[in-house]
Amino acid sequence: MANPDPHSFFDDAQPRTTRIHLSLTADFAARRLTGNVALHLSPGEGPLDLDTKGLDIHAASGPDGAAIPWSLGDETPILGRRLRVELPAGCPSVRIEYATTPEALGLQWLTPSQTEGKRHPFLFSQFQSIHARTMIPLQDSPKARITYHADITVPEPLAVVMSAGPSGVVQGSERGYRTFSFEMPQPIPPYLLALAIGEIESRDLSPRSRVWAEPGTVEAAAWEFAEIEGMIRTAESLFGPYEWDRYDMLVLPPSFPYGGMENPRMTFLTPTLLAGDRSLVDVVANELAHSWTGNLVTNADMDHFWLNEGWTVWAERRIQEALHGPDKSVLDWALGQTALDLELARFGPESPLTKLRTDLAGVDPDDAFSSIPYEKGSRFLTLIERAVGRPRFDAFVRDYIARFRFTSITSEEFLAFVEDKLPGVAASVGARGWLEEPGIPANAPVFHSAALESLTALAGRWPEESARPQPDVAASWSPLELLVYLQHLPRETDRDGCEWLDANLHLTDRGNCEILVEWLTIAAGSDYDPVFPRIRQFLTRVGRMKYLRPLYGALGRHRRTRALAHEVFAAASEGYHVLSRRVVESVMAKYPID
Ligand code: BES
Repeated sequence: MANPDPHSFFDDAQPRTTRIHLSLTADFAARRLTGNVALHLSPGEGPLDLDTKGLDIHAASGPDGAAIPWSLGDETPILGRRLRVELPAGCPSVRIEYATTPEALGLQWLTPSQTEGKRHPFLFSQFQSIHARTMIPLQDSPKARITYHADITVPEPLAVVMSAGPSGVVQGSERGYRTFSFEMPQPIPPYLLALAIGEIESRDLSPRSRVWAEPGTVEAAAWEFAEIEGMIRTAESLFGPYEWDRYDMLVLPPSFPYGGMENPRMTFLTPTLLAGDRSLVDVVANELAHSWTGNLVTNADMDHFWLNEGWTVWAERRIQEALHGPDKSVLDWALGQTALDLELARFGPESPLTKLRTDLAGVDPDDAFSSIPYEKGSRFLTLIERAVGRPRFDAFVRDYIARFRFTSITSEEFLAFVEDKLPGVAASVGARGWLEEPGIPANAPVFHSAALESLTALAGRWPEESARPQPDVAASWSPLELLVYLQHLPRETDRDGCEWLDANLHLTDRGNCEILVEWLTIAAGSDYDPVFPRIRQFLTRVGRMKYLRPLYGALGRHRRTRALAHEVFAAASEGYHVLSRRVVESVMAKYPID
């Protein structure tokens, strides 16, 4: 197979990049990174095909400085442009001089006004799934694992973090500039390369963990994530030793489009996790769990994405269960079920995007992104866990990680390993159907608890007067219980119901954004105007896609809320990440035109 990955020009018959050496300077005025990358290669000669998207390529040369011929292929909409370098015989590395362009999808350049401190610009990367090629010309496939060294030069007083170990800071050759160096000794898929530049500081949380954030946010972040060491130890007790040396975190400005991104040694997090009561650390548990599932054992390409995310949701919920007991994890599974049901309704149960093993040739992974690989995948694994019993499954998990660590695998390799270690089980649970058929099979595991039954029963009786929870009972609910309750309420209710909910459950002032967004979604769907200012304020500040999709969706229900959506989007969209902007545009395209 020459091109095993449908989303890359990577050709596995050609030499492979084993290590890269990156040397770039950040120009915030021009929104460009300029410099070079040296790709160190396995032995071979002839054509070497690299992925690029929106890069300005200037020159290519060998280690002796001699020019190497190169050519760019035609632009293709999803993959970008193939850069073909003609390697002379015995050439161990190629150095490419280049610059990024301001439109690079994997980089978001923020103006000072888009940061907390408002004084300095900020840059962050987000490469999963196929955006590393917008910052670096390379073999951008998870199969092409690399180690890296990077020297990043930035204006003072900005600091740099990467998904790597820091290896020094020196004054740059130009006055007022500093060069931050990094070393990543472990081979990672290119989408895990990550960079952020800004006015950031750190606080130590444990001997192997610290949190980075803007100065105005760092204390709150240190408090929110103070219990991280206990979580790392719990994860180690379940999945084996933590292999990445440090587990640091970076809290980004609010336009960060995801909740979290598992960049090794430096998880990237949205500031919407800073609830003030540690109630949203499940996202950190998820990103931490990726240190085993996803980062050690990686999907071969996006057709096997469930191997990253399904495994990680399963692992996250095992961490939560170990820390907080089974009742808490049942509620997490219930939240997941709601997300799953919404996605099945969005795609339709027969959609090929609801298969675990997908066929995304010609499909942009950003357009295919959904909760299906997360929630269907984790249910499939729980089914196997229940079929063989926990002790056997836990041993299997450790074997799986030990066998495939630092490799990138397919669903077929996974299945073969299941058959080897747990003979007959794949057939008995209908594994082929789970992987290859759309929708959710009838033998999907069910998750029960008394608390879940009573919350959903109560919400199901809304709007009966007698079904309104007693305020003292509601006050005793955990944030997770309240969220499950809200998710099971109708999406539209009358004004009196909205007033009651807000007055008694104190929703508009919540610091927990999951609860806040669930409420604002109901309120928007109910055309409840007292919360319009809060919706406007939230959507202007936050660019997390998980929140934009339901909120803008709910605003589509009424004439007044549609007007609000258009007004807010016009003002806010410039601050959104390109991917967030696209999601909102696709949601608003479904609105009737008034
Ligand atoms: N790896 C994902 C984020 C991602 C996936 C980015 C695909 C780009 C392409 C990350 O682990 C994730 O899913 N984060 C979730 C939270 C988690 C608790 C499910 C998020 O961002 O909300």
